[in-house]
Amino acid sequence: MSAMFPTVRMRRLRKLKLIKETQLSTDDLILPLFIDENIEGETKKPISSMPGQYRFSIESAVKEVLEVRSMGLKSVLLFGIPRRKDETGSEAFNTEGVIQRAVRRIKKEVDDDVVIITDLCLCEYTTHGHCGLVDIKNGQVLNDPTLEILGKIAVSQAEAGADIVAPSGMMDGMVKAIRENLDDKGFTDTAIMSYAAKYNSALYGPFREAADSGYQFGDRSGYQMDVSNAREALREVELDIEEGADIVMVKPAIFYLDIISKVRARFDVPLAAYNVSGEYSMISAASEKGYLNREEMMMEGLAAIKRAGADLIITYFAKDVAKEVAEGKFRRSEA
Ligand code: PBG
Ligand code: ZN
Repeated sequence: MSAMFPTVRMRRLRKLKLIKETQLSTDDLILPLFIDENIEGETKKPISSMPGQYRFSIESAVKEVLEVRSMGLKSVLLFGIPRRKDETGSEAFNTEGVIQRAVRRIKKEVDDDVVIITDLCLCEYTTHGHCGLVDIKNGQVLNDPTLEILGKIAVSQAEAGADIVAPSGMMDGMVKAIRENLDDKGFTDTAIMSYAAKYNSALYGPFREAADSGYQFGDRSGYQMDVSNAREALREVELDIEEGADIVMVKPAIFYLDIISKVRARFDVPLAAYNVSGEYSMISAASEKGYLNREEMMMEGLAAIKRAGADLIITYFAKDVAKEVAEGKFRRSEA
């Protein structure tokens, strides 16, 4: 045989489609839902910056979660939009607040296996839109006074029946404060999924319309991470694990695959990645224009996040993936 020809031919196995190093499963997907206290009855309102996504009333959210379950998805991440906002975000820990009521209703109407994760932050609840209390004099976000409030929110969400609370405000010490408050009140089994490495990203733009959580002044660079940094993400994750996080998250996902992969290599804890609004809206817009194929882009993006090492993926595409599975189109055709 001539030395010109390869003896190893990668295509032999490729053609059999036998080897798949990573699997995307609907069990791993978490669907974010926006619940708006200003919406009455069974209504839901489309979010213009995120085609295919809605703000739900509490009633329509219950229906949505029933549908989500029937499609084989397991878990939802709930964001609340309160009727009343104030400077300290006090609606966030109101026992009769939008999220607390929604969680109780969903827990009652939907089967026991549904996993309810509640976003734990202040930005949807404060008039200024920041993720923590703000010193009005200089516009600074106050870390330590915020921790006390986060503890209260966690307890009220756990009381309502949340399985997992997900602090997303990047306050230093938030996981520890939340764990202590939960344990003090007997909620030792409520888990914490921490937004451990959350970047100060432009990709959250569509979300801020969806959740009505844009800020009135300044920016989030004081608490969210600089996009140039990778080592700092490992430090953030390490601290959150020490403080008692059950799941750590990297956010965004597709622009930050290196971070997911580094965290995976360094730490043996469950790892989530947030496929954020901007990643969703980019694919949606490009496919509306006919530049890219929506389903193929979606599956390729999610496969990349899995390949990088995420266990769980929070994605607005969760229902679309479930549909692909149901229609037997789970694998992209290699034609
Ligand atoms: C706020 C929060 C944001 C997202 C989740 N929680 C936006 C922000 O930090 O400004 C972004 C989610 C997305 O873009 O899909 N705590
Ligand atoms: Zn926030």
